[in-house]
Amino acid sequence: MNKRILVLPGDGIGPEVMTVATAVLQAIAVRFGHNFIVTQGLIGAAALAVTGEPLPKQTIAQCQQIEAVLLGAVGDPHYEHNAVSLRPEQGLLGLRQHLGVYANIRPVQVWPQLQAASSLKTAVIEGVNFIFFRELLAGLYFGKPRGRSSDGETAVDTMRYSKAEVRRIVRLAFQAAQQRSKKLCSVDKANVLECSRLWREVVIEQAKQWPDVAVTHMYVDNAAMQIIRQPKQFDVIVTENMFGDILSDEAAQVAGSLGLLASASLGDRIALYEPVHGSAPDIAGHNRANPIGAIVSVALMLEYSFGLKAETAAIHTALSQTLTAGWRTADLATALTPPDHVLDTSVFGQKLIQYI
Ligand code: IPM
Ligand code: MN
Repeated sequence: MNKRILVLPGDGIGPEVMTVATAVLQAIAVRFGHNFIVTQGLIGAAALAVTGEPLPKQTIAQCQQIEAVLLGAVGDPHYEHNAVSLRPEQGLLGLRQHLGVYANIRPVQVWPQLQAASSLKTAVIEGVNFIFFRELLAGLYFGKPRGRSSDGETAVDTMRYSKAEVRRIVRLAFQAAQQRSKKLCSVDKANVLECSRLWREVVIEQAKQWPDVAVTHMYVDNAAMQIIRQPKQFDVIVTENMFGDILSDEAAQVAGSLGLLASASLGDRIALYEPVHGSAPDIAGHNRANPIGAIVSVALMLEYSFGLKAETAAIHTALSQTLTAGWRTADLATALTPPDHVLDTSVFGQKLIQYI
């Protein structure tokens, strides 16, 4: 198979984890006889430094010739006082919008080998396996009006949803629930927010078309609590943009580290794959970041964009073998991890590639 992929390493630990991710991709290409043509582009602070824009036209143009985008991270404290349109994050938000990727899928899985890395008790987390469907192109992130009053004393952000925007993500979540354990939990704040009441209406409307899926509705504050109280109750969670952003970071700690989670952002055409973690400026450049979220993002790309099942499974198997052999990055090490088993980002990647 021939596929063209755009890699946008971005900021902070992004380049370090993307180096590992692309090496894993090439190892898969060698083992299975594929030809993955990777081009690199600029986004975020890395793009600002070179072009003065967080999402350069060149990057948009590069998106025309490819089949999927793999992204590292965006964000750099150096630019945090920039005007909104010149913040690194704007590069990512603009790219999501440009690609039309409205469905952000974030699987949460507790690896048996990593149970000790979670701050929660093993009995609570063992076997956890659920998936977020986060709406990615509406809500507070994009609603207008937004901004600051002329005297700077008042700020406004707008949460806005149309039924159509809710319907398309909810339908994907129902589909996934039907293929999994036929349980869908919709998270909202319908006791307070009109957007959530609209959201709930659409979920109830759609539920009629999926009579074999059991739907529950949960307020977001309760969901935040339930995720650490009894995470095994969840299978598919569907929620709006900002709730999904917050809950998925929380869920990463159920799994043991923010560095573990991957995501797929799907729309009607080219999809975008990225780890859930941010740019982690505190450890950037030290070769200490956990590349697993980036590696699993590659696996999601092979599965969702290219339909390569054996290749996807090969990554998961190699990852499982690496963890079973006891290799860890620093974020996953516990008091029981032998110091010589705590590896740098790149060495962890090399171990995993040997298994592929
Ligand atoms: C994420 C990130 C982004 C988001 C930021 C970097 C804009 O936190 O992908 O979860 O809030 O969506
Ligand atoms: Mn986030």
